[in-house]
Amino acid sequence: ASLKRFNTFGIDVKAKKLISVDTVDELKEVLKQAYAQELFILGGGSNMLLTANVDKTVLHINLKGKEILSESENEVLVKACAGENWHDFVLWTLKQDFGGIENLSLIPGNVGTAPIQNIGAYGVELKDVFEECEAVNIQTLEQKVFNNRASEFDYRNSVFKKSLKGQYIITSVTFRLTKSNHVLRTDYGAIKNALEQRKIISAKIKDVSDAVISIRQEKLPDPKLLGNSGSFFKNPVISREEFEKLQIKFPEIPSYPVNSGKVKIPAGWLIEKTGLKGYREGDAGVHKNQALVLVNYGSATGREILHLSQKVQQEVHSKFGVKLEPEVNIF
Ligand code: EPU
Repeated sequence: ASLKRFNTFGIDVKAKKLISVDTVDELKEVLKQAYAQELFILGGGSNMLLTANVDKTVLHINLKGKEILSESENEVLVKACAGENWHDFVLWTLKQDFGGIENLSLIPGNVGTAPIQNIGAYGVELKDVFEECEAVNIQTLEQKVFNNRASEFDYRNSVFKKSLKGQYIITSVTFRLTKSNHVLRTDYGAIKNALEQRKIISAKIKDVSDAVISIRQEKLPDPKLLGNSGSFFKNPVISREEFEKLQIKFPEIPSYPVNSGKVKIPAGWLIEKTGLKGYREGDAGVHKNQALVLVNYGSATGREILHLSQKVQQEVHSKFGVKLEPEVNIF
């Protein structure tokens, strides 16, 4: 079976076998019959680069459904199954006038994979609204609930990428959202500008979502039209001393402070300064509007994208002495 439809990079590799599960019971049944090492777990396919055929059974997590678990005057707990498309879920919450994830509009992928890398954009991270998730242990089939603390969220990271990597399949996520007194996060420059441009004075959550959608559409390629996995690299975090040295050579270098005296630098800026923005090798390219995104113009192979990513890493390292780490998972 071809996996082209199942990864947003649109890489055409084959899987030995593809099984889609629609319920937790079906999932457990499959896990019971297969050895964990024979399975390859696939969620939204939006954060991975496939560089070779998958000589395993690909397990597509297609669990659907959402429900309101409880509500108080100001808050609501909403549970969504892992296979729900992330952006469709965001739109549904907006329709109910539930606030909290409007800044995370239009992020590709599914609900169940959002906690793994703690998706984030425009001043909000999943961890800000995450109540808990349910997951199945791949080896023991035991079901477990992870609360916010147990999920060990960090910038583009969680326990599911660290000590528990490859051990659990997330089956649902519960969100704590606001019903009234929404807290709007509009500090991010581009959001402010978009709202001002539209002359919106007292913004609603839907306005923030619309602003985010237009910002993303301007800069980020639509995976349906141009294969990509969003940011290919993480924004590197370096020490303050290292940053001050770079500032002498590159006074205009942008940065965000992070705790413990470290500094985060936008990788897109570093890449742009090497001159690689818009660069192309065959069908593998550095996106012309956002250098942090690598794209597949049609028939690039995973290896070609990987090769391009290594060239980007090398050039950034030789110009700035900074190491870029991939944000996408490479298989
Ligand atoms: N920049 C450049 N050239 C570029 C791209 C960016 O100079 O080609 C500069 C911008 O001018 C700006 C700075 O870099 O000063 C930051 O750019 P932007 O606001 O676009 O955000 P980012 O740091 O490039 C991160 C996330 C995105 C998220 C945005 C908005 C990571 C790895 N990426 O990108 O997440 O949407 O912030 O919050 O943290 C994703 O993870 O797939 C993703 C798209």
